[in-house]
Amino acid sequence: MPITYTIDGITVTAEADDTILTSATKAGIEIPSLCFDARTAIYGACGVCLVEVEGVPKLLRACSARP
Ligand code: FES
Repeated sequence: MPITYTIDGITVTAEADDTILTSATKAGIEIPSLCFDARTAIYGACGVCLVEVEGVPKLLRACSARP
């Protein structure tokens, strides 16, 4: 069952298997990331995709956090 949430005032719809990064990308919102860039080799977690989520006291990795 999809959910909706907002990023910078833009409504985003996420399916159950979406991360913040995948749902944002589908909505046309760019969240910088290196782990999924074909031009870079995989080397652990880059941390470039960190996002602030209202009500969460720490930054989350958009590529792994679910909305
Ligand atoms: S894109 Fe690298 S940690 Fe999320």
